[in-house]
Amino acid sequence: MIISIDFGNSKVKCAYPDRTGQTVAVKNGHGGNGLRACVYIDGSGQCLVGDDAHEQGFVDPQNVVRHFKLSLGSDQKLLGGKNAAELAEILILAAKQFAEKQAGESVDAAVISVPANFTDKQKKALQQACESAGIKVLRVISEPAAAAFAYAEQNSSNKRGSKIAVYDLGSSTFDCAICESNGDEILVLATEGVQKLGGDDLDEVLKQVILDKLEKKTGKDCRVALSDPFFALDLDTRAAGAKISLGKRDKVQIPMSLKGQHYVISVTKAEFEKAIKALIERTLDCLDKLFATAGITVRDLTSLYLVGGPSRMPFIQDMVANRTGMVPRMEIDPEMAVAHGAALVAVSEMAKQGTPARIGGDTIPQPDAFLKEATHHDIGIAVEDRSGGGKRIVNAVVVAKNTPVPCKVPPQYFRLESPDQRDVLIEILQGPDRADIKDCLIIGRLELNDLPVEAARSPRIEIKCEFDQNTFVTVTARDTISGKEVSVRVEVLK
Ligand SMILES: Nc1ncnc2c1ncn2[C@@H]1O[C@H](COP(=O)(O)OP(=O)(O)OP(=O)(O)O)[C@@H](O)[C@H]1O
Ligand SMILES: [Mg+2]
Repeated sequence: MIISIDFGNSKVKCAYPDRTGQTVAVKNGHGGNGLRACVYIDGSGQCLVGDDAHEQGFVDPQNVVRHFKLSLGSDQKLLGGKNAAELAEILILAAKQFAEKQAGESVDAAVISVPANFTDKQKKALQQACESAGIKVLRVISEPAAAAFAYAEQNSSNKRGSKIAVYDLGSSTFDCAICESNGDEILVLATEGVQKLGGDDLDEVLKQVILDKLEKKTGKDCRVALSDPFFALDLDTRAAGAKISLGKRDKVQIPMSLKGQHYVISVTKAEFEKAIKALIERTLDCLDKLFATAGITVRDLTSLYLVGGPSRMPFIQDMVANRTGMVPRMEIDPEMAVAHGAALVAVSEMAKQGTPARIGGDTIPQPDAFLKEATHHDIGIAVEDRSGGGKRIVNAVVVAKNTPVPCKVPPQYFRLESPDQRDVLIEILQGPDRADIKDCLIIGRLELNDLPVEAARSPRIEIKCEFDQNTFVTVTARDTISGKEVSVRVEVLK
């Protein structure tokens, strides 16, 4: 059977389509949806996942790792000699087993979702983690586009030309997207995102409020106590719980223990909201940018949907409504919307590949439309810029962000830097047009050597870019004089 995997920073959420075409959330064995993104590995090799790992973490906090999604793609060992992708594989394998137990069928393939501005290296790390767990990856899609697809399919009344926006505040990232329906396709017009802005950051702000109050109460420097893993974990847990309570109550009382003494810290809703306001403003600024890049205004929208756990906070709903002038909607469980949408995309992808999805021997009805994504970054190459008098190396964008995929963009031609040049190193950059190279991410390098020297310098180096439907990019450089050609499937180098 096919599933979706929304590898969230706080929970791995999966869904699968049933025989009616509805999508079903995968439970975690403790009754709730999704598997807590937590792994415990001790010295004897005992490995626990999800809530079990979380609980064991209170006893042995050194051997537990939580919320490591943003480390995907990094080789850093986080726990038990394993990097983030290897730990992700453990969680994905467990999530797969929960899905199989619930549906009574084995999982073969999945559509996976990632934050809009994940790099190719991060995406590939998650893709490989799934494949190592024995799951074929049908497609990699962006989280806000997946949620938009779920809503578009739910409201089939969304006619040709209708436009919807998704505001997705998760635990680690903020993502947003605008999609348009053209009848057969849901087209992603634009995505934006902020990595490292989510529920964890709201928790962090609340932790600082609690620590300030604890310091006032005790007259002690409480921050030194953060080196005690038991104190640090207690504070994390209390803050995460208080954040949710403050959405419903005007004041919470938080029990804290410090050096054997017990204290009660009171935090009011007003204090918390004042402390997090600047963070929420950043998400709204990002939303403004999204409208600007999509070239539309809020008035052009059919609906605006909120996704992600923190979007349950009335304060956030009010701030979104005030900034946009539109009442946001939330008909699907905000933590599961991405997984539901990605499971529908999996059904349409199977149909497109000519093997309609089945479950329990039945063919699953197809969604009305197909999701068509767009690129998430500006991709260019490093060129010399002497326009200001001095010499600068800047990004010359070859493929602009939000270009529909899959695509092959028309080739572009560049000169060599100097007339007698025989070798050229082409750096592929992720970043805005004309941005200084030091402000861009170098995502690939191509070398052409032993080139013939030409009498008069001409734009002779041909650069071609090709994006697949998972927004992975391949860049090819060809010397049009000698015919030499090199190609690279791009990954992040630094
Ligand atoms: N009622 C609530 N009020 C405030 N925050 C909430 C509420 N319910 C859940 N959260 C927060 O939502 C976050 C989890 O949301 P979600 O499942 O959407 O994130 P995620 O998908 O794991 O993260 P990401 O998308 O960043 O990878 C947690 O930070 C959690 O504390
Ligand atoms: Mg999420």
